[in-house]
Amino acid sequence: MNAVQVPETAPEKERFQLLVDAVTDYAIYMLDPNGIIASWNSGAQRFKGYIESEILGEHFSRFYTDEDRATELPRRALETAAREGKFEAEGWRVRKDGGRFWAHVVIDPIWDAKGNLIGYAKITRDLTERRKAEEALKESEQRFRLLVQGVTDYAIYMLDPEGYVSNWNPGAQRIKGYTEDEIRGKHFSRFYTDEDRARGLPQRALEIARREGRFDAEGWRVRKDGTRFWASVVIDPIYNDMKRLIGFAKITRDITERRNAQEALEQAQAALFQAQKMETVGQLTGGIAHDFNNLLTIIVNSLDLLTRNVTGARETRLIESAQRAADRGARLTQQLLAFSRRQPLQSELRNPRTLIEGFETVLRRACGELVNLRLSLPTRSSAINVDGAQFEAALLNLVVNARDAMPDGGELTIAVSETELNETRAAICNIPAGPYVVLNVRDTGIGMSKDVAERVFEPFFTTKEFGKGTGLGLSQVYGFIMQSGGHIEVQSEPGKGTTITMLLPAHDGGEEQDEEGSSDMGKPARDTAGTVLIVEDEPAVLEVAMEIFDSLGYDVLTATDAMHAIEVFERDIPIDVLFSDVIMPNGMNGVELSRKAQKLRPGIKVLLASGYPMSALPSEGFDEGVSFISKPYRWTELADKLRVLRTGS
Ligand SMILES: Nc1ncnc2c1ncn2[C@@H]1O[C@H](COP(=O)(O)OP(=O)(O)OP(=O)(O)O)[C@@H](O)[C@H]1O
Ligand SMILES: [Mg+2]
Repeated sequence: MNAVQVPETAPEKERFQLLVDAVTDYAIYMLDPNGIIASWNSGAQRFKGYIESEILGEHFSRFYTDEDRATELPRRALETAAREGKFEAEGWRVRKDGGRFWAHVVIDPIWDAKGNLIGYAKITRDLTERRKAEEALKESEQRFRLLVQGVTDYAIYMLDPEGYVSNWNPGAQRIKGYTEDEIRGKHFSRFYTDEDRARGLPQRALEIARREGRFDAEGWRVRKDGTRFWASVVIDPIYNDMKRLIGFAKITRDITERRNAQEALEQAQAALFQAQKMETVGQLTGGIAHDFNNLLTIIVNSLDLLTRNVTGARETRLIESAQRAADRGARLTQQLLAFSRRQPLQSELRNPRTLIEGFETVLRRACGELVNLRLSLPTRSSAINVDGAQFEAALLNLVVNARDAMPDGGELTIAVSETELNETRAAICNIPAGPYVVLNVRDTGIGMSKDVAERVFEPFFTTKEFGKGTGLGLSQVYGFIMQSGGHIEVQSEPGKGTTITMLLPAHDGGEEQDEEGSSDMGKPARDTAGTVLIVEDEPAVLEVAMEIFDSLGYDVLTATDAMHAIEVFERDIPIDVLFSDVIMPNGMNGVELSRKAQKLRPGIKVLLASGYPMSALPSEGFDEGVSFISKPYRWTELADKLRVLRTGS
């Protein structure tokens, strides 16, 4: 039993009284069995305000509040102490001046040697200060929580020392998309990209925060739905009073918008710089080209006049070569004028698809046999307001560049699509916002370094060896696109191919869209014997065949195997003759291809070339339109076969 033993002897009693009196931090006093105050110490005087003479003989319940007295707490306290050997509680008590203080109270019963209850020892401690401090802390925590919970622009949350999320605020939910319930206890590395996780960035971030007291960075983070945002992140370590790490405070802000704005600004500045440079160069070259054109006009006309009077073979030859040089000079100045946007354009509304398809034969030929040209043209598209001839020249320049960039062959794609340019993008491109037709020319070639890509539009910039390129191709394209109210840009990386993207303002209407498949639209203007598709995997043989068909007046399309040929058939180009090798790589042979071709294009004439004797070939199963020729064939033979095949005589 935890009871106080009353000291027996007088000196001992005195010492005890002295000790108790010396205590000022505790009120220590005695009650008789009825609760009447029997002794008092200086601590009691200090807390409660009464001096010994005025309080001795009073009932201790006066220290209690009215409410506590109403519930008879004083009596119950004594009863509890007597019954259980101790009463211990915290509660409000009242001072002499009526003021309240928060007290920690212990009441112990006092028994005499015979076991009779002779009173109670009461020890009271004033905890007002501590309680105040606790309340202030609670309040400030509460306020802090409200503050953090009220923040929606910042993700503010805590991690335990291992990086597991321990709490979450609405800002975190808004930015990252997880609710508190689903994220608590999960590791924070899930907010990082796969690349960053693979590089161990989350661990490193905590490590740095721990070592340096703070981790502060920007980077891509991932939302719950998998989308990325550009985040500004601060991680602070949190230590307890014992200087032990108890976790991390993490504040994340979504600054994607700011980053985008910044990037847009930088791009716009770069674009402006580029535009100014091109403008200056353009003015210069435009001026030179203009003067040069006048000089050339004089030279050409003078040479023309000269030819009339010259009869000697040598003189004629000299004048002719001077004329050729002058013509070449004229073509160059034409390109320069195009670059400086001073060429007279005959713009009209054209449908990009019809325009490109009408030029497809030429483009395919320019590609050569190693490059596989694919066209991706929408059936319906807005019109563009362009000079058709200049458009074709530009496209040809791009195709030739692409071919040169793919000496070992590759894929070249010309794609048309449409886009709506918003204000930001429009500002970067330096053209008005609105609808645009997008023309993409993409190759899988050698690509370019950044330095080269920055200069490609400059006149006379070429990386090709002397005599191979003038460096005016892209200058023409650039000038033409700019003069047509458009925008052009290059995306390229060494070894990763090149994409040239052109935007031209989209217009309603224009020429008829190619609706009822009016195939004449796609036909080149020149008078031809028709179009032949030559399928041959051996480059040298292909070249010879191309030469022969060309000299016979055919427009030539080529394919290096059957699959490629079928792709060409599936496009909307008129083809009159299929000339194919019988033995071919990649599965399908010439005989099978011819059957497929006749299905796709009923009425097409097919001429199959084979190195085997005729007798080895299947004789049945072909209709009128198929004929064979054995390798090696001669020009005249081929011409004869074709004539018979096409005219029946
Ligand atoms: N598709 C491409 N892939 C890689 N580099 C390219 C591509 N297109 C252009 N280039 C680079 O840009 C340079 C300039 O091209 P541009 O067409 O203006 O001139 P060029 O082809 O060299 O000569 P020209 O076209 O006058 O005969 C090229 O020399 C080449 O280095
Ligand atoms: Mg070129």
